Amino acid sequence: MIQKPKITVIGTGYLGATHAASMAELGFDVLGVDVDPAKIEKLTQGILPFHEPELPELLLKHAGTGRLRFTTSIQEAAEYGDIHFIAVGTPQKEGDNAADMTYVYDAVSSIARLANKDCLIAGKSTVPVGTSRELLKLIEREKSPDVEIQLAWNPEFLREGFAVKDTLEPDRLIVGAEDQRAVKALKLVYADAISRETPFIASDFETAELTKVAANAFLATKISFINAFSEVTERVGGDIRVLADAIGYDARIGRRFLNAGVGFGGGCLPKDIRALQARVSELGLDRTMSFLHEIDQINLRRRERVVDLVKSVLHELTDKKIAVLGATFKPNSDDVRDSPALDVAAQLYNAGADVSVYDPQGMPNSAKRFPRLTYAPTIEDCLEGAEIVLLLTEWTEFRELNPEAVSTFVSRKRILDGRNVLDETKWERAGWEFYALGRRTDRLIP
Ligand code: UDX
Repeated sequence: MIQKPKITVIGTGYLGATHAASMAELGFDVLGVDVDPAKIEKLTQGILPFHEPELPELLLKHAGTGRLRFTTSIQEAAEYGDIHFIAVGTPQKEGDNAADMTYVYDAVSSIARLANKDCLIAGKSTVPVGTSRELLKLIEREKSPDVEIQLAWNPEFLREGFAVKDTLEPDRLIVGAEDQRAVKALKLVYADAISRETPFIASDFETAELTKVAANAFLATKISFINAFSEVTERVGGDIRVLADAIGYDARIGRRFLNAGVGFGGGCLPKDIRALQARVSELGLDRTMSFLHEIDQINLRRRERVVDLVKSVLHELTDKKIAVLGATFKPNSDDVRDSPALDVAAQLYNAGADVSVYDPQGMPNSAKRFPRLTYAPTIEDCLEGAEIVLLLTEWTEFRELNPEAVSTFVSRKRILDGRNVLDETKWERAGWEFYALGRRTDRLIP
């Protein structure tokens, strides 16, 4: 492989845009490709069509250095790249747990068909195990006999909100391949991280594909594990935060991802655990991942718990004004995919409540998904006249709310901390009724 390969990134969502800009930051010439002309138009002007810290600066910087360009032409990309990273989405299929693989197959098939020089296709999207082997066959069928096309699977573990950092300073790198030349080429791409002793794991295709879903399944399990204990502490008494701290001191367990609350959402964890179950069932291992069904159910029950708690506190929901703070699936993101906060807001609205939502970044995306909810222009507007306030995404500005100041807007001083981030003594001292998930039952209505 040539010393400084030209890179393309197919798909410019959270993963692809971040990968493209990060590759430019590492000194490569990069061409980002997407089928959405509006997105490409914005990226070309250095405008990021979604919220991700540090990424706008990187985009602008490399629009300036000339190392980062964007196009809608897959043909241009196929002819340009020595390494093609596949970063297209693999969303959950409509009405099915399995992943929709159309975009991956389309991208790989187009590159294979249109490539006029030897190249490497490196998959980054999260895919069902067995995909790489299928793609190898597809590449052989589609490519011109004059070119050689290698394949590697190189999953991405980036978190939204930390996408640039996670890409430039990954915890680990894994490359699944059959041909050692593919591994060598990707070692060159990631030379910077490798020189800082980032673990680099070369494996077969299947292990690389499974590593990504195994990591997400583990994280989802950790969150649902603590949330299952929330159900118990809510029933018998106890404080889930103290329990999490106490078990978290055990280095084998660790405290991270044991924050109990309204549960996980986003574009990865929920759909990945569903796709994994679907794939493993297809392999004839029906019971192997059945625990993930339970993980999903525990997670969804947390949302119901919030709705039930609100019903118990307000008795009747019809026309009751409820202030929902938070719509995104986590802070520092504008992503509302499978967001627990937005789901709870919609459930309360459907039950007749007058729901007002405020989120620092997530309202445009929320309005596309649930246009009938009321989106307040400011936090004060959201709180105005509320009979209960629900904190469902732990943005810093919500964590730092001053109970005295908030009191002036609401009609009843009642708050439910759905993320276990508020200091209840402070709120109670200011005269608030304070509710939380996984905490003392004497405050919670059963
Ligand atoms: C996740 C993985 O972390 C990442 O490695 C993978 O590449 C993509 O999926 P992301 O979706 O950005 O990343 O979100 P993450 O930070 O993992 O949080 C997922 C969800 O779990 C959020 O809704 C968050 O609020 C929730 N969560 C997280 C908890 O409820 N409790 C916790 O202790 C941690």
